[in-house]
Amino acid sequence: MKTFKISEKIYKYRFGAPRPTEIIADIGEETTKAEIDYFHIAAGEKLKLTFKMEPEDMIWGLGENQRGMNKRGGLYISYCSDDPNHTPDKKSLYGAHNFMIIDGEVKFGVFIDYPGQVVFDIGNDHKDIIEIIIDTLDADVYMIQGDQPREIVHEFLKLIGDGYAPPKWAFGYQQSRWSYPDQKAIDEVADAFIQHDIPCDAIYLDIDYMEDFKDFTISKERFPNFKDYVSTMKEKGLRLVPIIDAGVKIENGYRIYEEGVEKGYFCLDEDGKPFVAAVWPGKVHFPDFFNPEARRWFGLKYKDMIECGIEGFWNDMNEPAIFYSNRGLEKAIEKAKTSENENLDIYTFFDLKDVFEHMSNAVEDYQSFYHNINGKLVNHNMVHNLYGCNMTRAAAEGFREIHPNKRFLLFSRASSIGMHRYGGIWTGDNHSWWEHLLLNLKMMPSLNMCGFLYAGADTGGFSGDCNAQLMIRWLQMSLFTPLLRNHSAMGTRRQEPYAYDQESMGIMREMIRLRYALVPYLYSEYMKALMAKDIFFAPLAFAYQDRMSKRVEDQLLVGESLMIAPIYQENAVGRYVWLPEDMVLWRVDCYQQREFKVMRMGHHYMDVPLNQVPIFIRKNRLLVLGNHGPNIDRLDPSEVFVIGFVEDQTSYVYYDDDGETYGYREGMYSKIFMDIHRKNGNLDIQIRVIGRPATKKIHFDIVDMQGNVTQRTMVLESSK
Ligand code: GLC
Repeated sequence: MKTFKISEKIYKYRFGAPRPTEIIADIGEETTKAEIDYFHIAAGEKLKLTFKMEPEDMIWGLGENQRGMNKRGGLYISYCSDDPNHTPDKKSLYGAHNFMIIDGEVKFGVFIDYPGQVVFDIGNDHKDIIEIIIDTLDADVYMIQGDQPREIVHEFLKLIGDGYAPPKWAFGYQQSRWSYPDQKAIDEVADAFIQHDIPCDAIYLDIDYMEDFKDFTISKERFPNFKDYVSTMKEKGLRLVPIIDAGVKIENGYRIYEEGVEKGYFCLDEDGKPFVAAVWPGKVHFPDFFNPEARRWFGLKYKDMIECGIEGFWNDMNEPAIFYSNRGLEKAIEKAKTSENENLDIYTFFDLKDVFEHMSNAVEDYQSFYHNINGKLVNHNMVHNLYGCNMTRAAAEGFREIHPNKRFLLFSRASSIGMHRYGGIWTGDNHSWWEHLLLNLKMMPSLNMCGFLYAGADTGGFSGDCNAQLMIRWLQMSLFTPLLRNHSAMGTRRQEPYAYDQESMGIMREMIRLRYALVPYLYSEYMKALMAKDIFFAPLAFAYQDRMSKRVEDQLLVGESLMIAPIYQENAVGRYVWLPEDMVLWRVDCYQQREFKVMRMGHHYMDVPLNQVPIFIRKNRLLVLGNHGPNIDRLDPSEVFVIGFVEDQTSYVYYDDDGETYGYREGMYSKIFMDIHRKNGNLDIQIRVIGRPATKKIHFDIVDMQGNVTQRTMVLESSK
């Protein structure tokens, strides 16, 4: 083992000779003095790190995973998996996020930079022992110090590099469904949103827009003139967001397939031929995203659609998902044949069933193909978790080449740490279950800790039927997630807002309008977090040191000013909430109505009827709101409203930029600094500006400790 010092706070332990993953650029300086030495490390056939937890220790991180924000008690396996049944016993989901924080008397972070399988047993086998088993003897392990978990996250986010900035329109409401089969179906969706006056920014194109599920093709029959159609939709204020899948259909005459074969850009099987697997189109080859040339080739394929006016994509099936391989199918057929005339008993029947059930996404298949990495063939299984990441990298690098200064919407299903540089993620095929609404809530801060700020779940749930109540409650939670997309599976009940009764639709309309009113705050907080290498969603324990806050698993801090406590139980019309300090409760059924209630620190039961979303404004913090509009481009930025809860003093930096380019990296943004002091019953508001904000007028509603509201309107100096 060699030790490298990356910074005062970060050390890298290098075991063996790991293959570069390109996640971390900083190599560090070799040192003999390891200053962080918390784990016991053993190397047999695999690397094994063990750590003894104290009873009070909490474990944060691990990104997209089951269970709580505190990961203690669980077994998690980092191995990107296409498994749509996220029952609590599942150990792997679509992402592989090998970063966690131990938070107790001793506090530190650990990142395992290894793209094959890593097992995190966090007190599952033995209640006080953490055991991390890395499927190799060649890996880099980073240890990160910090006084508080938030500081450890900050150091980690600095280590893994700048994150993804979506365009501002990607903060709007987005409507999706597998499937809107054709132009007519999409027109119906668009017209319904317009007719019902529900804001919306994007409609998704799932696999049916393609010709026979072939990547980068558009069905002529269903979309006779795609380019014109994209611009007609844009005139209606809606962007179309097509899906791209990892597998490329094997079909003579299909350009992408032929080019890939000719240039040797596909993954290879044991005989050196392109590996064959089956997904939506039937048999496919997988592009070798580890090969920079193949990556560039695939990335530039997005160009045709970009030239038709497309500004966003979602990358799917990139674990990569395998329905079956030739090997798996042959094995299953063989088994079926030998079972044909048998009297199957408990063992032989389950044997047969198992063969069919394990045909998809089989490890044997992942072990049977290869990538070309720097001229060497590398078995896929050893780099499995980087496949989806590299697909999204291909797209992002393609976009940068095609339009260097344009921000695209891009998110992926499979991911690993490091992919946050290229795009966001959605959390895959959840269900229309209340449990998954809660899971969504718990996952958000963990994802943020792993770098994924632009994230969200299929609102309303993908599989199964979503009733009106669940849809409304889920929407009330997703109002705060940067990616707000309602997506559902083919064959399920329709779940667009207008697919429900009038009253439910009316509630959803108000909720979506509230989302648009929140965009100034959400965007400001998102971009500030991105640039400061901070998180957007935080567990209460990241801000409050009291014992109770550590235990809260169903409330979240959103940016620096808000706390949310969503309803996640059927028929609940209220819930318990813990207030770690005095806060203002704004119960919103219609965001134009502003009634505030000061609530004291402590436990409360609050009523939350179906049409209301409770928003808590923290003490000495400010919330910036706008007005809603039909979509993000048509929001009026000139006037904003600030709701504050001010005991003595506060300040807020309201950030904004063009929402379209990378200019913000060169300082092209505006900041409005608001400073508020309360002295002898008087309120003093000072405003200072840098850049050229679009905001000209600010209305303040400042609540004091007794609940009295002082109103002020200020016109910005530059616009006087
Ligand atoms: C996968 C995706 C889902 C999509 C479906 C069809 O299951 O996770 O979002 O709708 O494929 O493309």
